[in-house]
Amino acid sequence: MDWPSIISDIEHAVEPVRGQGTVANYIPALAAVDPNKFGLAVVLGDGQTFCIGDSEETFSIQSISKVFTLSMALRVVGDALWQRVGKEPSGSPFNSIVQLEAERGIPRNPLINAGAIVVTDHLVEQIGSPQTVTDLLDRLRTLAEDDSINIDESVAKSESLAGERNRALASFMKSYGNLNCSVEDTLSAYFAHCSIAMSCHQLARAALFLAFDGCDPLSGQQMVSNEACRRINAVMMSCGHYDNSGDFTYRIGLPGKSGVGGGILVIAPGHGAATVWSPGLNSAGTSAVGSVALETLVKATGWSVF
Ligand code: DON
Repeated sequence: MDWPSIISDIEHAVEPVRGQGTVANYIPALAAVDPNKFGLAVVLGDGQTFCIGDSEETFSIQSISKVFTLSMALRVVGDALWQRVGKEPSGSPFNSIVQLEAERGIPRNPLINAGAIVVTDHLVEQIGSPQTVTDLLDRLRTLAEDDSINIDESVAKSESLAGERNRALASFMKSYGNLNCSVEDTLSAYFAHCSIAMSCHQLARAALFLAFDGCDPLSGQQMVSNEACRRINAVMMSCGHYDNSGDFTYRIGLPGKSGVGGGILVIAPGHGAATVWSPGLNSAGTSAVGSVALETLVKATGWSVF
């Protein structure tokens, strides 16, 4: 693979669209981020790493954290998880409440906010709210081989202050018996994990196990079972970008997860993991420039699973 030429293709593709999209402002702390930031990191199974731009700068990982909480929950509670959350794309915005009433408090999938809150509730029920966050941070630090990974407390506070929609989702699910802990206990862990700050490089490194049947190829540690890994990737492919999941799969053809901080994580099974960061979002909350960069990466590498 000619990586210098792939990197140059990506830089050329991104240049004319740089700064496009709208920075998330419903969480006030995210609105302050410079829209011109752009970083990309690719980590391969043999540890080779290729980086562009602001790839070492930390940003708010937001919904990308849902992939890691899902992998923890599948380890802790196993298939029992699927009794309280579905596996279907929602075709609705990430914070929508509409389907919950007709579907009796069972969220469509674990990557929309309601579903991720149920996943977090499972963990909080098993190990408590603070321990959920501590275990997740430990896991990310070990995987990324970087002890500096932490929560951005100003983002966590901002999310909580602006968190009425998530409180509504959690309370609504509780009224259907699909939240076992208190709304505030579960949401304090949820807000904390969404507010973790990581760089493109750290995220791509941390997610490498998802490209290798659940086993981190550099440490040899089995993070989730082979079967759980396939399921996580399948859910990312069909639901990772909410009502933009079809378009993302059409253009990029890889399991991926977006976050409103402007990050997108993609998994290239058997090859590696990549993360791009550019804060301007499209209407579904996926990084606009990030999608262009990943489209170019996939075209150049042939990594689409199709
Ligand atoms: O709960 C929220 O609304 C945010 N913490 C996460 C949303 C998000 O990242 C949506 N993804 N594109």
